[in-house]
Amino acid sequence: MKMDQYIYNVNYNEQDGNLCAFEVRALFDYKLKEKVFFTNKEVDPSISPFIKNRIKIIYKENTFNKILDLIMAENFSANDFMVKYVAMYNRDPNINQGKKLSKEIGLRIFGYPSFKSPKILLGITAYKGYWYFGYLEQNNYKWRAHKQKPHSFSSALGVDMAKVLINVASKGDTSKCLIDACCGVGTVTLEGIFAGYNICGWEINPKIAKLARLNLAYYKYDAKIVTGDMKNIKEHYDAVIVDLPYNNFSHFDEEKQLDIIKHAKQIANRIIIVTSTDIKEKLYANQLKIIDYCKAEKTIKGDFARYIWICENRSK
Ligand SMILES: C[S@@+](CC[C@H](N)C(=O)[O-])C[C@H]1O[C@@H](n2cnc3c(N)ncnc32)[C@H](O)[C@@H]1O
Repeated sequence: MKMDQYIYNVNYNEQDGNLCAFEVRALFDYKLKEKVFFTNKEVDPSISPFIKNRIKIIYKENTFNKILDLIMAENFSANDFMVKYVAMYNRDPNINQGKKLSKEIGLRIFGYPSFKSPKILLGITAYKGYWYFGYLEQNNYKWRAHKQKPHSFSSALGVDMAKVLINVASKGDTSKCLIDACCGVGTVTLEGIFAGYNICGWEINPKIAKLARLNLAYYKYDAKIVTGDMKNIKEHYDAVIVDLPYNNFSHFDEEKQLDIIKHAKQIANRIIIVTSTDIKEKLYANQLKIIDYCKAEKTIKGDFARYIWICENRSK
C-alpha cells in the first residue's frame, strides 16, 4: 500500500513535555499523545529541539518481508543511498537487529549505496504492528553549537526555548517576517536567522545590544540588531516575539510591560509573549485573544518556569 504521509518522533526531558506538545500544536496543528505521530505536513526535524526523525512513507506493510517484496517488485532504485533502522520509541525490540534489517533492504535496492557520505537516506521502522519504509530526515543538531554563544546574561533564554518561539511564531513557514522586540543578547534572533528567517532584534540597552551583535558575528550570522525602544518600531511584521523584561515585579515594571504589549499589538498580527507569571487576565483586558499558551517548566539548569502566550489582536 502506498501513502503520502510522514511518521515523526519526538524526544524530550520530563520537564519539557509541555513545551514539546506546544511546539507540535503550532507546527502541525496536532495534539501530541505519544512520542510518535503521523501527519501529512513536512517539517525539517532540525528546526526543532524535540523532533528527532521524520520518515516520508513510501511503503507501509504489516510484515518486514512484504516491504522487501515491494522494494523488489517495484524495482526501487537509488544511488549514493544508505538505509538506517530508526527506533521511534524507547525499548523498540528491533533495535538490536537494526543493522541486519537495513542490510537486507539495501541489498534489494537497485543502485549503489554510500556509507560515508550518502546523498539519500532511507529509513525503516516498525511501530504498532506495521513496518514503514521511506525517505529519512534526521535532526542534525547543528543548532546545539549555539549553546556555547560567547555572551549571555541572567535573563537570556535557552536555545531550545528560542527555537520553539521561532516555530510557534512562524508555524514553520520560513517566508514569515519576524521581529524579536526585546532581544537581549539575541538568543531568539540567532535561532531565527539560523533557520533562514527574515528577522531583526530590538534592544533598549546599548551594552546588551552590543552583546547580541557580538553573538551573531561569532557565528557569522547577518541579522540587524537595532538599539532602541521597541515602542519606536514602525514597520509591520507577520509575528512579533516579546520576551518581556521582568527584573522586579513593581507596579512601575508592570506598567512598562503593558506598554510593550500594547505596542506589540500594533506591529504584528501574531504576538508571542514570554512571561514569568500568568498574565492571562491582563492579555484579555488588553484586547488580546489567546490562541494557545504553555507553561514551560523549570529547566535542569535551574531556569525558572516561563509562560509562552500566542495571541492575536482582538480589537481588529
Ligand atoms: C527578558 S530579556 C530578553 C532576553 C532575550 N530573549 C535573550 O535571550 O537574551 C528582556 C530584554 O528587554 C530589554 N528591554 C526592556 N524594555 C525594552 C524596550 N522598551 N524596548 C526594547 N528592549 C527592551 C531589556 O533590556 C532586556 O534585555
